[in-house]
Amino acid sequence: MTDLHPDLARVLLSPDVIQSRIKEIARQIEGDYADAECVVLIGILKGAFIFLSDLSRELKIPHTVDFISVSSYGDSAVSNGAVRLILDLRKPIKNEHVIIVEDIVDTGNTLEYLYRTLKWRNPASLRTCTLFQKERESKDVPVDYLGFELPDVWVVGYGLDYADTHRTLPYVAELKAEVYG
Ligand code: PRP
Repeated sequence: MTDLHPDLARVLLSPDVIQSRIKEIARQIEGDYADAECVVLIGILKGAFIFLSDLSRELKIPHTVDFISVSSYGDSAVSNGAVRLILDLRKPIKNEHVIIVEDIVDTGNTLEYLYRTLKWRNPASLRTCTLFQKERESKDVPVDYLGFELPDVWVVGYGLDYADTHRTLPYVAELKAEVYG
């Protein structure tokens, strides 16, 4: 790609590759929920909003969307893994078929916290969907739908950011180490 931003080392996933994997995930979800009256997709802000919007528009089964936002305690360099809720869902999920939609699982702290928190609210079913997962050890949390595994480097684009930049790139790229080092 000739117009790669100077902060970026290389493209890892092109827009076409990402979009065709999202179509595959949508077909898988449609098959799994063919008998469900409705599904609630819960996007984790902010990173998941791009994936959620593409996945939602691709899904051909009845569904609604809602959002939730969490924050890690402390800055990421000294985080002890604790997560707190900073924006809750608009509606109860009791007896609903719920899919948590995440952009990336890194340590797994966020997804593990949300899975546990939402399970307490007694949904009819609860599954997790993440477009990306880092190739590293993470918390033991079930991932039902996974798009891609990514190397354990700083990645940006398609929802993933560096200090809130590069989030809306249509591809996923590796950030140069000198940018964040
Ligand atoms: C990122 C990403 C995931 C989380 C994954 O969110 O969007 O939600 O980190 O990391 P973990 O598996 O180590 O918990 P971030 O806190 O950067 O917020 P953002 O989505 O608003 O950028």
